[in-house]
Amino acid sequence: MPKTTFGPKPFMYPAPVLIVGAIVDGKPNFTTIAWGGVACSDPPMVSIALRAERYIHDGVIESQTFSVNVPPKGLIIETDFCGTTTGRKINKAEACGLDIFYGKLESAPMIEQCAVNLECEVVHTLKLGAHTLFVGKVVETFVENKYITEGKADIAKIQPMIYATGTNAYFALGDFMAGVSGPAKDLRKKFQIGRE
Ligand SMILES: Cc1cc2nc3c(=O)[nH]c(=O)nc-3n(C[C@H](O)[C@H](O)[C@H](O)COP(=O)(O)O)c2cc1C
Repeated sequence: MPKTTFGPKPFMYPAPVLIVGAIVDGKPNFTTIAWGGVACSDPPMVSIALRAERYIHDGVIESQTFSVNVPPKGLIIETDFCGTTTGRKINKAEACGLDIFYGKLESAPMIEQCAVNLECEVVHTLKLGAHTLFVGKVVETFVENKYITEGKADIAKIQPMIYATGTNAYFALGDFMAGVSGPAKDLRKKFQIGRE
């Protein structure tokens, strides 16, 4: 099984395409990120990694709050814009026609057109190197009704985008494969081991 080494790289596939929102210099700013993830389920926490030079970085530091917005694939132009322009030079929400709303926090602007919105309070800040890792406690979760099926957020409807680290490109979500625990059912049975 030949493999090519790439040196130390954060090649964890797939990475989500997310838009972080925060108030910077008194105005909402939105920045696309791929270095984001779930950090804890109870209490619910997420992490975002921002380079210190991003305009949004100082807004998160100052307000100690941020939002995470999940854009559906139909929002690729706006998402790309928020990831390739800086709020220092343009009001991205105005330029893209993004509608803003607020939840419990007054300093975590969220995007109406995104399928899922999380408003978060910073609980940990880790300066790791190029990026600062912010861990945020989720204080509220919003899912637009049209993306809900039988009371659950439906990823097939949301159609989130995927970021391909290494090739620097957007991909769409793939096909449904199986519910968790189905694929390994026979193997668990073979070893007579129960599901955790
Ligand atoms: C798909 C994509 C993913 C990105 N991921 C990150 C990320 O995880 N962290 C980061 O600091 N910048 C990331 N960026 C770069 C910022 O979005 C970009 O530098 C942006 O212009 C910064 O905006 P701001 O200066 O208004 O904060 C990403 C850009 C794109 C297009």
